[in-house]
Amino acid sequence: MGTAFGLDIGGTGIKGAVVDLASGELLSERVRIDTPQPATVAAVLDTAAAVVGEVGWTGPIGCAFPGIVKRGLVGSAANIDEEWLGEHLEERLAARLGVAVRALNDADAAGLAEMRLGSGHQRDGVVLMLTLGTGIGSALFVDGRLVPNTEFGHLELDGFNAESRASAAARKREGLSYEEWGMRLQRYFSHVERLLSPDLFIVGGGISRKADRFLPLLSLRAPVVAARLRQNSGIVGAALHSSEA
Ligand code: BGC
Repeated sequence: MGTAFGLDIGGTGIKGAVVDLASGELLSERVRIDTPQPATVAAVLDTAAAVVGEVGWTGPIGCAFPGIVKRGLVGSAANIDEEWLGEHLEERLAARLGVAVRALNDADAAGLAEMRLGSGHQRDGVVLMLTLGTGIGSALFVDGRLVPNTEFGHLELDGFNAESRASAAARKREGLSYEEWGMRLQRYFSHVERLLSPDLFIVGGGISRKADRFLPLLSLRAPVVAARLRQNSGIVGAALHSSEA
C-alpha cells in the first residue's frame, strides 16, 4: 500500500506528515505551522510548501481543505480567505509543490480515516463524523460509502449558523466552560440526530483529545465516540485519498 504525505489545511493551522497507508501511523514528525491570516491563496500555498519542505517529502500528496472541494475545485470558503472560491486547489498545489496532489474536504478526509482505520471501522448503516474546530465539518457515510461535501456545520439553528455557536473556536472565543459548551453541543447534535438518524456519531477535531470532558455530557439515541486517530485523522485521510482512483 505504501506511504503518502497527508497535508491538512485548517482555519488555524496547516499540518502535515508522512503516513503509512496500511496502518495510518505517522512515519515522520507532524509539522504544524499557523495558517497565515488572511489565508489568501498565495499565503496558504507558501505555508503548505513550508510544511512539506520541512519533512523533505517529494512523493504524492493528499490535501484536506476546510471547504467544499469538487473535482479539485474549491466551492466554499467559510474559514479561509474568499479568494479561494473557484480556485483549482489540486492544480495550484501541484504547480507549487511539483508533485501530484489530490484534495478533498477536511471533514471528509477525517471521516475516511476513521472509517478505514479508526472508530468507524467495519461500521455499516449511517455514520456521521462531526469535526469540532475553527468551524464544524461533517462527513456522512452510508454503509461505508462517503456522501461527499455535506455541510452540516452550517445548519441554521435558533437563528444562528450552527458552527458559530458550537465549534471549538466558539467555546474559546466566548470563554465557555465544557458544561456550557456541552449544552450547545447537545442542542446541535440532537437537531442533527432528528434530521439524519445516524447509527453512530464520531467526533473529531483537535478538541477530541479532551473528549472525556464533553462527550459524557451528551444524551443522544445513537452512540457518540471520539475519533480514534484524534487530531491526526485529517492528515491520515488526506494521505489515504491521494492513492485512491
Ligand atoms: C466548512 C466545511 C469544513 C469545516 C471544518 C466549515 O466552515 O464550511 O467545509 O469542513 O468548516 O473545517
